[in-house]
Order: sequence, then structure tokens, then C-alpha cells
Amino acid sequence: MANQTQTPVPLDFQPLASPMAMEHVTIQYGNKVAVRDVSLLFAPKSITALIGPSGCGKTTLLTSLNRLTDLIPHCRVSGSVRLAELEIFDQRIDVIELRRRVGMIFQRPNPFPMSIRRNLELPLREHGLRDRHKLAEKVERTLTEVGLWTEVKDRLDRSALTLSGGQQQRLCLARALALNPEVILLDEPCSSLDPLSVAVIEDLLVRLRANCTIVVVTHNLAQARRIADSTAFLWADEAGGRLIEHRATKALFDSPRESLTAAFVTGRVG
Ligand SMILES: Nc1ncnc2c1ncn2[C@@H]1O[C@H](COP(=O)(O)OP(=O)(O)OP(=O)(O)O)[C@@H](O)[C@H]1O
Ligand SMILES: [Mg+2]
Repeated sequence: MANQTQTPVPLDFQPLASPMAMEHVTIQYGNKVAVRDVSLLFAPKSITALIGPSGCGKTTLLTSLNRLTDLIPHCRVSGSVRLAELEIFDQRIDVIELRRRVGMIFQRPNPFPMSIRRNLELPLREHGLRDRHKLAEKVERTLTEVGLWTEVKDRLDRSALTLSGGQQQRLCLARALALNPEVILLDEPCSSLDPLSVAVIEDLLVRLRANCTIVVVTHNLAQARRIADSTAFLWADEAGGRLIEHRATKALFDSPRESLTAAFVTGRVG
């Protein structure tokens, strides 16, 4: 679906697509290990899907990539995550700047309860853009990139909460894109959307891949097959969530190396 409707029109948005590499990452909530010793490479200009049963640590792993895990009391992270040249777990780095470079989209669309325009202007102003013309230009450009401009250009000053779920999710994506992220993390971004909105978001992710590194958690195996270049399968046992295998998506689904992967992708476990 997404691949067939892919548009050849280049996006205006052209940041660096940086590689991210996770090495021996272990994440604990108190004494409980949620993710154990995971090493994964997220290739630039590609979509990596994270799949696995509920509770295997997908969200935990994803949120460690822009240190949202810092905000959870009792959460401890060890190991290394490199974003291009930067070791993100280094306590001296600028976390606000890290979160600009590594944007996050959540399962439930979470626009700010303010106008559509302000949703985009606010983060831009926080990152130092003050010029009114440049702000207006950037608002139009990012809304165009997510295919929302024609739908909302006459109602920019209305509340973002008046948009449909699919439109709100695209607005959240525009809000992240406005800051020129190098990596975009998405946690089940389509699970609360209707099928038409899902197709729109999938097309968008496939287009964004040209300029970005994308990591998407999904429960929808068909979605992983449609849009992901590579897929990582995680599984949890009493010792915590661990990586079972990470391969090109087609190889993982069609000829998995591990019997657990085969059982999961055919619906026999999980
Ligand atoms: N804030 C928290 N405090 C304590 N334990 C947590 C917290 N968040 C997650 N956990 C635990 O860590 C483990 C991994 O949870 P996580 O939410 O990362 O899994 P998931 O793979 O995203 O699951 P789902 O598919 O249901 O979203 C689970 O055992 C969960 O109960
Ligand atoms: Mg989750």
C-alpha cells in the first residue's frame, strides 16, 4: 500500500539523516530489568521496525533513544547509544538539543491545546526562530510536508483539538519535522487511527525516509512488512526483554533464523 503510492516529489525538509547505534543497552525500572543487553544499529535513510509481544520493552527501548527515560523515576539505563558523533548517555550533553535532533511521536496524538499555528510556532520560538515571516514560511512548509496545508490553511488559528485523529497525528509529525530532526521515533503511531489515516501516515514515513532515520514500534506486522527496511524482534522472559533477531524485513518474515521469530510472525506465540 504505502510503497505503491510513494510520491517522487522531493521534500523540502533536508536534514542530515544520522545513524544511531545502540550497544549493550540494559534498562531497569527499580530492580526489574525491562531490556537486557540490546545492541542495534539504526541505519540512516531507512525505517527500522521494532516488533514483539506486549511488555517486551519496545517503548522502553525507543524512549531511551532521546533520553525520555531520564524523566521516569527509578529508571536506570546503561550501555551506549551513539547518534552520529554523540554519545547520548553522556550526562554533559544538551538534552533539549538531543530531543530536537531525535523527535518522538506517541501512540495517541498529543497536539498542544492551542491553535494549529501555535503548535508549530512554539517549538520553533523555543529554538530561537523569532522572525514572523520566517515562522509563517516554516509553518506552511512543514504543514505541506505532512499533507495538511490545504486541509488547514483557512483555520490555522483554530484549536488543534478540532482536527481529526489522523490530522492531529500529522500535525504532531509536522511539529517534530519543523525542528529538522535527524531521527524520528514513533511508538505505534497508527494504532488509534482509521485505515485511511494509517495509509497517509505510512506514505509519509516512506517519503521521510529519504531524509531521516526512522524507528517505529508497531504491533501491526503487516505494517512492518509494508514500510520497514529492517525489523528487530524482541521477546521478554523473566530475565527481561531481549533482542532475538534484527534483519532485513523480508528475511525476518520469510526466513527467520530463530524458531521464536518464526512462531511470532506466524501468530503461534505472543
Ligand atoms: N514506568 C514504568 N515503571 C515500571 N515498570 C515499567 C514502566 N514502564 C514499563 N515498565 C515495565 O517494563 C517492561 C517493558 O515495558 P514496555 O512498555 O517498554 O513494553 P512494550 O513492549 O512497549 O509493551 P506494549 O506493546 O504493551 O506497549 C514491562 O514489564 C513493563 O511493565
Ligand atoms: Mg509500548
